[in-house]
Amino acid sequence: MHVIHFAAECYPVAKVGGLADVLGALPKYQRQLGINTSVVLPFYDKTFVRTHYLERIYEGRIYQGGERLNYEVLKEKDDLLGFKLFLIRIPGLLDREEVYSYPDEQVQFLAFQHAGLDWLCNAKMLPDIIHCHDHHTGLIPFYMEHADQFDLLKGTPTIATVHNGQYQGWMDWKMAALLPAFDTWRWGLLDWNGLINPLAALIKCCWAYTTVSEGYLSELYQEANGLESLFLAEKDKAYGIVNGIDTELWNASTDSMLAYNFNLVSIAKGKKTNKEKLCSDYGLNPLLPLIVFIGRFALEKGADLLADSIRYSLAQHEGEVTFFILGSGDRSIESKLVELSENYSQHFGVHIGYNEELAHQVYASADYLLMPSRVEPCGLNQLYAMRYGTIPVVRATGGLKDTVKDINIYDGYGMLFDEASVEAVFGAIQQALSFWKATKKRELGTLRKKIMKLDFSWDKSAAKYIELYKKLIE
Ligand code: GLC
Repeated sequence: MHVIHFAAECYPVAKVGGLADVLGALPKYQRQLGINTSVVLPFYDKTFVRTHYLERIYEGRIYQGGERLNYEVLKEKDDLLGFKLFLIRIPGLLDREEVYSYPDEQVQFLAFQHAGLDWLCNAKMLPDIIHCHDHHTGLIPFYMEHADQFDLLKGTPTIATVHNGQYQGWMDWKMAALLPAFDTWRWGLLDWNGLINPLAALIKCCWAYTTVSEGYLSELYQEANGLESLFLAEKDKAYGIVNGIDTELWNASTDSMLAYNFNLVSIAKGKKTNKEKLCSDYGLNPLLPLIVFIGRFALEKGADLLADSIRYSLAQHEGEVTFFILGSGDRSIESKLVELSENYSQHFGVHIGYNEELAHQVYASADYLLMPSRVEPCGLNQLYAMRYGTIPVVRATGGLKDTVKDINIYDGYGMLFDEASVEAVFGAIQQALSFWKATKKRELGTLRKKIMKLDFSWDKSAAKYIELYKKLIE
């Protein structure tokens, strides 16, 4: 079976968020289960492409609204990622540094999808399944069925995975002129409330759709940024399959990004030594419990709630706790956090930016990971944290609710809170601190070992996707 994944991100080639981690791991684990997997990405001018041997395997051209675009398909020669990686390069359009945020982003993703299918048809590379991730690849199933030039792909099963239903890739109908010629009778499949909506088109046209946790699937029926009724109407082809993590990459005993490697036996020393390193780098007191946040500063992630809840905690529990935040995004959130950290320099450290290596070090150093997300389709950070012995303190939503069991119930191991408010986050921090005070070293060690041992690897979920592929092919 040959499966082709289309996506905008893939770790370590290009990463903005969890989407990249999934694309860097799922295809690899699927390959280990015996299926042939490929990932097709836009070409980005990032370190990866400069440091790997890319072979040009195809050259072609497409017409976008009358403009001729030449493209080339590059393949990473040695399949170093554990699957075949193909990059679509279009000079001037798909050869830039960033993944998102260009004013002509829609034009970029239109060209990516168009050229991607053009190549598959012309090179007669016809897979058994095409797997599309998020709205950036949302028009592919529509094109395959309703644009004659991709006739060869007609009838190939497609599957869509929703990693984030908040972003839908909306476009004005004026943009329709840039699409490959399609059966205009079918325009309704592209439309949602008067706009071209690639995520809506994806859900309408795919053979099956999945969300990255079961909890998130049921939430989408209630709240999906306007697409609730669509998700509900297409419910018969919906599946919730929780993400896993790459346990080869995330392994505290071999992770080269850590200051100190550790395992279940050396966990106490491991956590302590890593924390001392992080704290010394940022001038923090290493003797106090360390609560961290890692991620994008967006409302979705509840990042706007951090500054005030940290401020209250530091005021009320002075000298009892330290915080560390790694992330970037909303400028006003960034400046609020930086300002606060300057006022509490020994108890609050901030690193603005994306830094994979530092993230690993922070997971290994922290005592608690805070995730006050308003929306969290799956969430991988809580899984990375647990893998490195860090207790998750998370809002009970989406995949967080599915993967973290509250410590107050039988067999529980994390902390959950309900509201996305400063009071609730502050309350959760207080709970974490009381737990810290009340818990003996030994008990803490037992809890850490327990979360480190939880199995969140991809094996089970990768197999579930394969089962679904087989079902569609039949
Ligand atoms: C998105 C979601 C996150 C999920 C990730 C991978 O980034 O916000 O919850 O874990 O995709 O599926």
